[in-house]
Amino acid sequence: MATKRVTVTDPASETSTELPVLEGSLGTPVIDIQKLTKELGYFSYDPGFVSTASCQSAITYIDGEQGILLYRGYPIEQLAQQSTFLEVAHLLIFGELPKPAELSAFAAEIKREAMIHETLRKFFDGFQYDAHPMAMMVGVVGSLSAFYHSELDMTDPEHRRISAIRLLAKMPTIATACYRHSVGLPFVYPRGDLGYCENFLNMMFSLPSLQYSGDTQWYLDPLASEALSLLFILHADHEQNASTSTVRLASSTGANPYACISAGIAALWGPAHGGANEAVLGMLNEIGHPDRIPEYIRRAKDKNDPFRLMGFGHRIYKNYDPRAMIIRKACHAVLERFSQSDPLFDLAMALEEMALNDDYFIEKRLYPNVDFYSGIIYKALNIPVNMFTVMFALARTAGWVAHWLELKSDPKQKIGRPRQLYVGAPRRDYVSQDRR
Ligand code: ACO
Repeated sequence: MATKRVTVTDPASETSTELPVLEGSLGTPVIDIQKLTKELGYFSYDPGFVSTASCQSAITYIDGEQGILLYRGYPIEQLAQQSTFLEVAHLLIFGELPKPAELSAFAAEIKREAMIHETLRKFFDGFQYDAHPMAMMVGVVGSLSAFYHSELDMTDPEHRRISAIRLLAKMPTIATACYRHSVGLPFVYPRGDLGYCENFLNMMFSLPSLQYSGDTQWYLDPLASEALSLLFILHADHEQNASTSTVRLASSTGANPYACISAGIAALWGPAHGGANEAVLGMLNEIGHPDRIPEYIRRAKDKNDPFRLMGFGHRIYKNYDPRAMIIRKACHAVLERFSQSDPLFDLAMALEEMALNDDYFIEKRLYPNVDFYSGIIYKALNIPVNMFTVMFALARTAGWVAHWLELKSDPKQKIGRPRQLYVGAPRRDYVSQDRR
């Protein structure tokens, strides 16, 4: 209920309207501008939705000034330290951390749904071996809509629930198939005796020669799946970011949920969003040596140079991204176990230090974001660089389906349809080309 109001007056027509101020349970209050058009005859203008709340949501809360991130009220630091990705996915999707019996049932259902239809496997044959894995993800996840469409009744909560489970369950199978296709290896089926992250690693790296030759199956090391679980937890949701808003907008039309998630994957791919983790590695490789850092810092500050420090800055965080802090700490343990050391990690830390002490970055409050260090861990786990954004998509599926379910059960939900400020030609009459 709104207790406060703000008055907006249009001096031209000498008309005023009172707009309610809505208070959430935490965070900045919002002005409900729905009456603005009807009563004053104006639309609002907010490119990039910098000041606009597009929905009410009870899933994730971010305080960018303080560097706070809560999933369903739980601080990200506590979840990262004490829970697993599947527990967090349950929390995001169903609102509560699962009790032991609920977690077993959830994990069992995920395992049952992890297989993909054999016909869907054939879709991969249509892609060149060098297709980007994100291109394959967009296509193959969208193609799930061809397998689950006519029987889906989106007004039935059980149909919605099973769609959410299927998406989460099939994502590792599809993601790893993208990788195996690109390197020409046979696909590996999900195994019932492995957990979510173990299954992912097994489907990525399992080779008959490793199993029978006695060579190390490093990917079955619990630290590898724990590191993956940690990264998935940190990437699982981030309220109304670009890809989640894309999923919501597509879903608002009543489109097939698998097609909506595919739209989210497409939005995530951009370097300003989830594609940044791949771009960070590219940037670090390009810098190559600590001596060259000042040159790249200078370029990042130069308005005439399109170069930006990838993995730095965030629309919401004007403080250290709490996820980057957690990943930075985790890097040490993972590198120690799997690759001893990585000069790129040392380079990243040197770059961070120099940027954080530079007036430009201080003034603009630009800090490392989640993607600055995540690639270092993925690289230590032998995940190829072009799969980094796929890893992000896999984890973010938990958030996307949570938002999709929330939108679908919102009685006030409307089709998303922004307005515009038209700046094109005024009305003019058609004149045939030969009379001109
Ligand atoms: N390097 C150099 N300058 C930067 C950077 C950067 N990484 N990020 C922002 N700035 C500057 C901008 O040039 C702008 O300067 P100005 O005020 O003089 O014009 C100012 O800081 C504000 O930046 P905006 O681009 O207006 O901020 P916005 O909220 O629109 O963009 C974004 C945020 C896209 C994340 C931006 O910081 C960026 O491009 N970062 C690099 C890419 C990246 O790491 N993306 C991942 C984000 S996290 C995620 O999606 C998972």
